[in-house]
Amino acid sequence: MKTPSHDLIVFGATSFVGQILTRYLAEQFGTHGPLKWAIAGRSEAKLAALRNSLGLAAGKVPLVLADAADEAALQRLCRDTRVVISTVGPYALYGEPLVKVCAETGTDYCDLTGEVQWIRRMIQGYEASARKSGARIVHCCGFDSIPSDLGVHFLQQQARQRFGEPCTTVKMRVKGARGGFSGGTAASLINVVKEASANPALRKELANPYSICPEGYAPAVRQPNVKSAEYDADFGAWVAPFVMSAINTRIVQRSNALSKQAYGKDFRYDEAMLMGRGLKGRAAATGLALGLGGFMVASALPPTRWALERFVLPAPGEGPSADDQRNGFFDLRFLGTTADGRKLRVKVTGDRDPGYGSTAKMLGQAGACLALDFAESGRKGGFWTPATMFGDALIERLVQHAGLTFDVIED
Ligand SMILES: NC(=O)c1ccc[n+]([C@@H]2O[C@H](COP(=O)([O-])OP(=O)(O)OC[C@H]3O[C@@H](n4cnc5c(N)ncnc54)[C@H](OP(=O)(O)O)[C@@H]3O)[C@@H](O)[C@H]2O)c1
Repeated sequence: MKTPSHDLIVFGATSFVGQILTRYLAEQFGTHGPLKWAIAGRSEAKLAALRNSLGLAAGKVPLVLADAADEAALQRLCRDTRVVISTVGPYALYGEPLVKVCAETGTDYCDLTGEVQWIRRMIQGYEASARKSGARIVHCCGFDSIPSDLGVHFLQQQARQRFGEPCTTVKMRVKGARGGFSGGTAASLINVVKEASANPALRKELANPYSICPEGYAPAVRQPNVKSAEYDADFGAWVAPFVMSAINTRIVQRSNALSKQAYGKDFRYDEAMLMGRGLKGRAAATGLALGLGGFMVASALPPTRWALERFVLPAPGEGPSADDQRNGFFDLRFLGTTADGRKLRVKVTGDRDPGYGSTAKMLGQAGACLALDFAESGRKGGFWTPATMFGDALIERLVQHAGLTFDVIED
């Protein structure tokens, strides 16, 4: 078989987040370094304009043309690289052919999907062929769900060192975050709500905390879930629902399942947003919970969904400004408690706005981890999570090269 020309191809390089990622790869890995990379998409003119805008020479960063629905073109793309990063979304609309082809050709793959129902379909449809071909597929390599998944991995590692056992309960609370929404993210969120509102079985599946765990995995543990404003005594503050918990909690549970329950058989995990203390905190938590509920209802009903898409949400290709990306950040707090009540607090932070400036760096380092660190790792083909595939190797990359921090908060 011919040796692939590339280590890594970014499919969807012209997307809002793909452009930020391409700039980051150029800054981090240059065009003469150990990582041979190329950019791909459906429009040659847009790809060439992106390459010019970054001042990259034509011969140094090749362009690869493929439409997301053209399996023959995706086969050619996959046979010429070891790893594909995809930002072509909503993934539930466009993503399946590439996952299928990667699984069949043994090409490693990572992406930014947060669409639980689609991940489940991909695992059911292509886990067998990925195992056979050796393709490692890693979904959710952005703000959802790397900080949550690696944050819990880090906390549990510290818990085992300090207490000799993992924490049976972990809470993640968003202490602060500044950032915006892109058209692709808005379209993905709206598409999940649209699919769920037309399909009761899917609504049930989305409510199952173990929905993307291996078939038959069903611990007899009731998972906590912050659905409205409530007081959290552990944090001494009011909390409100966190929209990304719908995907992050599923990934963290899958990590526990794939690691033979390294976090314990009774492991409980939830996420929420810290809204402050006293009456002010209560009002803010109530306001956010109501606003989120209103958005979900509006997205589920065709006339209001149309109005949201037309007048409120960003269009495909749009997103936060360069200034907003630069000035954004996130600060996540984790509290772990062991079965006998010992506690451990961890903080995970990131510079840049979570969904774009920071996400692009996380995704780029996840792709680099697959291409450079795990090329010969012995990790087998199949559907992994960020924590089970990359673990400490990605934490190290993120801290050194992507503006993240992982720290224990000592009392
Ligand atoms: N996990 C996270 O934290 C996170 C953060 C940010 C974004 N996301 C997800 O990442 C995805 C991208 O978001 P975005 O805002 O960057 O999206 P976007 O700007 O709307 O870009 C969508 C991309 O898909 C490409 N595309 C659409 N149909 C295609 C087809 N048939 N063949 C080939 N390419 C096609 C578009 O190509 P053209 O440029 O040629 O139109 C464009 O490059 C979304 O699913 C979003 O939800 C996740």
